[in-house]
Amino acid sequence: MFDLRSISKSFGSLKALDQLDLQLKPKIITGLIGPNGSGKTTLINIMTGIYAPDSGSIYFHQQNLTGESAECFAQKSIARTFQNIRLFKRMTVMENIMASLVTKEKNKRNNWFSYPFTRNKFNLNKAHEVLEIMNLKDQRNLFAEELPLPLRRKLEIARALVAEPEVILLDEPAGGMTPSETFEMAELINLHVAPGRTIVLIEHKMDLISKICNHLVVLNHGEKIVEGETHEVLSHKKVLEAYIGI
Ligand SMILES: Nc1ncnc2c1ncn2[C@@H]1O[C@H](COP(=O)(O)OP(=O)(O)OP(=O)(O)O)[C@@H](O)[C@H]1O
Ligand SMILES: [Mg+2]
Repeated sequence: MFDLRSISKSFGSLKALDQLDLQLKPKIITGLIGPNGSGKTTLINIMTGIYAPDSGSIYFHQQNLTGESAECFAQKSIARTFQNIRLFKRMTVMENIMASLVTKEKNKRNNWFSYPFTRNKFNLNKAHEVLEIMNLKDQRNLFAEELPLPLRRKLEIARALVAEPEVILLDEPAGGMTPSETFEMAELINLHVAPGRTIVLIEHKMDLISKICNHLVVLNHGEKIVEGETHEVLSHKKVLEAYIGI
């Protein structure tokens, strides 16, 4: 369904991705791991139209999306979260979620005059449902900037979920969290984010990776070095060398 062919992306003389091939397996969680600077976030940026690749092609359900805008990728039902959280800080939790619906509607209708349409009962119910499953109900009237980090990360996921995407790309959803917060995040992803969806999960925390990923892709210096079933990949010699440094 999501098919990347020979993707390269450089920043000046730095090759962030080098002829990378990736075919996402539908409705499973694919872990994307690799050392710092190996190109993981760049890959997600390419899979959401934030960057266009220098060369290579991107197909989604056989449709060529190479060079299309981020709005176009969002319209195709591809959502993401950010490693460096990007919320509307001075908007409440509920407003942040509703804003995600406004963007969805705007993309659909190609204008910004759709705000009233998003405040219908159906959308409000959907927002409440997402607040409930992400355990954010009690915080719904707080400003995003008032939330502690784990809740800000949950809100990012809630914003992605409310648009009911087919694919969600999660960039370090447990970044900066304690082990117990990470455990709770793993539960939430397993129970409420993954079912019925295709997920890519970038993470450095191997316990989270091994708990929730069925399939793993390992990047190093912008190249895919190993891919396969999670437990096999984690014990692969190349992965231990590149990632864990032994
Ligand atoms: N917009 C940019 N301009 C210049 N260089 C960039 C840009 N984005 C990424 N890079 C560089 O590309 C390389 C890959 O970066 P990327 O953020 O994709 O790595 P990563 O695997 O996500 O790392 P981390 O685990 O630290 O998040 C790095 O060397 C980074 O400095
Ligand atoms: Mg990154």
